[in-house]
Amino acid sequence: MSERKNLGNAMTKNSLFYNNRTMTSLRKYVGKQLVSFLRKDNFAHAGESEAIDLVMSAYNNHRFEHLLDVGCGLGGTAQYIKDKGWSKTISGFDVDSEAIDYATSTYKDLNFTCCDVFNVSNNISTSFDMFCLFNVFYAFSDQKKALHELSLIARKGAQLAIFDYSDPCEGKHTPLKRDGKDGRTPFIPVKLDTIETMLSDTAWRPIEIVDISDQYTHWYSQLCTLLIENKSNVIDRFNEEAFDNALSTYSKLTDAIQKKLLGGTIVYAEKR
Ligand SMILES: C[S@@+](CC[C@H](N)C(=O)[O-])C[C@H]1O[C@@H](n2cnc3c(N)ncnc32)[C@H](O)[C@@H]1O
Repeated sequence: MSERKNLGNAMTKNSLFYNNRTMTSLRKYVGKQLVSFLRKDNFAHAGESEAIDLVMSAYNNHRFEHLLDVGCGLGGTAQYIKDKGWSKTISGFDVDSEAIDYATSTYKDLNFTCCDVFNVSNNISTSFDMFCLFNVFYAFSDQKKALHELSLIARKGAQLAIFDYSDPCEGKHTPLKRDGKDGRTPFIPVKLDTIETMLSDTAWRPIEIVDISDQYTHWYSQLCTLLIENKSNVIDRFNEEAFDNALSTYSKLTDAIQKKLLGGTIVYAEKR
């Protein structure tokens, strides 16, 4: 069965339609629904389940007590982690209240909270032994402050895995970077030359930085192809503006990744 047919079937099964809503950003609720529609699960990160398997493979099937999915979006990642049995309890939080409402009603066995990472220690009282961030860190306007906040709800020895875009540095910087001070959402890829200092300054001990730029190249060109192949399905379900916005965003990302002005990384650290 072709991808196009698969997505068409998924569309008729799902009763949610978004074509009367403007998609302001792929990171907002409607944008996340579009991305998850394309990716055929409630993920809004590169590489879908393959990426989660890759990140979690570092832990050799260790079972955590309390895992927190930071910036969990629609909740698909948290559910996947539950299904794989990688933690006894799984919680997630996100600043997007619509995404949290969706996650709460879709994945009833998991704990979801709506809050901002900069205020998470006032909203969640559990102490976690594992934190995962899938394409979320780049969206934080103040990454150091976010790491500090997470450290406040981390047990000693807790593990942290940041899966995200990377800025290649070495004199080259991604043209897509924006700090968010102009009112647009930030796009701040992990800076490979400063991330270890940032972790050390916020009670995290850096363990390993893995370059996954080749996987990012593959995943993003695949996503652009999928989007183009499913143009009419996306326009039917969302609208033409949403399709154009998604294509423009993913084309820019793919171009920057292919030119090596943007990469992908997994940063592993441990709470001191
Ligand atoms: C690209 S989506 C990834 C969502 C999810 N991790 C996944 O893989 O499906 C980025 C998410 O980060 C969330 N986010 C951005 N800034 C945040 C903040 N300050 N606090 C909590 N969540 C935030 C957004 O609402 C969005 O759901």
